[in-house]
Amino acid sequence: MGRLVVVSNRVGPLKDTGRAGGLAVALVDALTQTGGLWFGWSGEVSEEGTFGQIKEQRTKAVQLAQIDITPADYEDYYAGYANRTLWPVLHYRLDLAVFDRRHETGYRQVNDRFATRLRPLIEADDVLWVHDYHFLTFAAALRAMEVGNPIGFFLHIPFPAPEILAALPNAGSIVRAMLAYDLIGFQTRRDAANFRRFVVEELGGTEVGDSRLSAGGRTVIVKAYPIGIDAEAFSKFAMSPEARRSVSRLEKQLAGRQQIIGVDRIDYSKGLPERFRAFERLLDDYPENRGRVSLMQIAPPSRSELDAYIEIRRTLEELTGHVNGRFSDIDWTPIRFLTRSFPRRVLAGIYRASRVGLVTPLRDGMNLVAKEYVAAQRAEDPGVLVLSRFAGAAEGMPEALVVNPHSAEEVAQGLQSAITMPLEERRDRWQAMFDRLCREDAHAWAQAILSDLRSVA
Ligand code: UDP
Ligand code: G6P
Repeated sequence: MGRLVVVSNRVGPLKDTGRAGGLAVALVDALTQTGGLWFGWSGEVSEEGTFGQIKEQRTKAVQLAQIDITPADYEDYYAGYANRTLWPVLHYRLDLAVFDRRHETGYRQVNDRFATRLRPLIEADDVLWVHDYHFLTFAAALRAMEVGNPIGFFLHIPFPAPEILAALPNAGSIVRAMLAYDLIGFQTRRDAANFRRFVVEELGGTEVGDSRLSAGGRTVIVKAYPIGIDAEAFSKFAMSPEARRSVSRLEKQLAGRQQIIGVDRIDYSKGLPERFRAFERLLDDYPENRGRVSLMQIAPPSRSELDAYIEIRRTLEELTGHVNGRFSDIDWTPIRFLTRSFPRRVLAGIYRASRVGLVTPLRDGMNLVAKEYVAAQRAEDPGVLVLSRFAGAAEGMPEALVVNPHSAEEVAQGLQSAITMPLEERRDRWQAMFDRLCREDAHAWAQAILSDLRSVA
């Protein structure tokens, strides 16, 4: 069986350092099981950029190979096209999207240069697996260099309805370039259906059976492969020494009161202002919770040089001040807003000590935090997940309390049901979700994609 070569913008770290981001977490889980080469950006900017030395690192199973980008690449490719154009458009936020031809050119160029640097490292029977919106045109670049290996792609974020994507200048050309992949995987059936519809309606493609598309002389596999977590490992994290230490500090502080936990990068897709307002609504509509239930929001800053991210952080700071000013008591603070990251073992302990996991993105590819919250619970006395219907995770977690994050009233009601839910119902809901998480885990996810991809070889 050929070697696995993974390509993504963010690479590693293989250790649990607490850098936030679902993609890296999922790939560490998948790659440590299969072994292989992981190629991508070093996270650093230098004058040589993509032409500089390849930085290598080797662990038992995985070899890391990373290159820098130039300050101009950072502006055009990473901060520009990837995060000011594709991220908002794919999350249905045309109001935040910036369309600049220079960014698109820079993005395509970085895809070409990464392909050029990877080319000599590819061996004859390697299988390539490329990840996320940074590398939509990567396979097209490799094909132009006569790479015939199977190349698969997985999109970690949503793929919007064609009516939204059509607003992206050159959308047709970008999607046509994606057809150079042999397999294109999405988080949900809805995302895969949106992609199919775009190819059929805008590019004149045809559906071949229910998981293949034919367009521009190529036939590719297009399917949903909902990403999983390593549920058993995560459930053990919740009993690690790091987790126990955080639980005991928290329990001392809570002194019998209940906690709602949210964990999200500071990102406008996560519905954080709506969440804070829904928590305020809970205290307004169900005043018995005042002094008894608090919200802890862990929120590591992300892409913090971009205006939209600076803005959302300011809004959250204001809202925290507003709610705390209104309801705080001498011995109780309603919202704790922590703008830093924690290792996943510590998070696991915090999840376990929290009665409610609150995950309310306005759009999210999957949302691993929702799955991790469930995996971390205690079987005898599990907490309740309140989950946005717009998270990919909602498609596979019907036992969560599924809510519309735009409605403060509905989220507040969901929170109240979660806080007051009887033990037996909590256990039933939790057991169904936990069993599914163990069956449909990170390993099964990677295996499903790789076996389909190997079948094209
Ligand atoms: N995470 C972490 N430390 C933090 C916050 C988050 O390790 O302080 C991890 C979290 O455990 C999860 C990932 O970052 O595995 C976030 O993935 P998710 O799919 O929820 O959201 P994304 O950041 O990919 O949009
Ligand atoms: C999401 C994206 C990833 C990205 C991560 C963190 O999970 O799907 O591709 O790595 O956010 O964002 P950053 O811009 O810091 O890599």
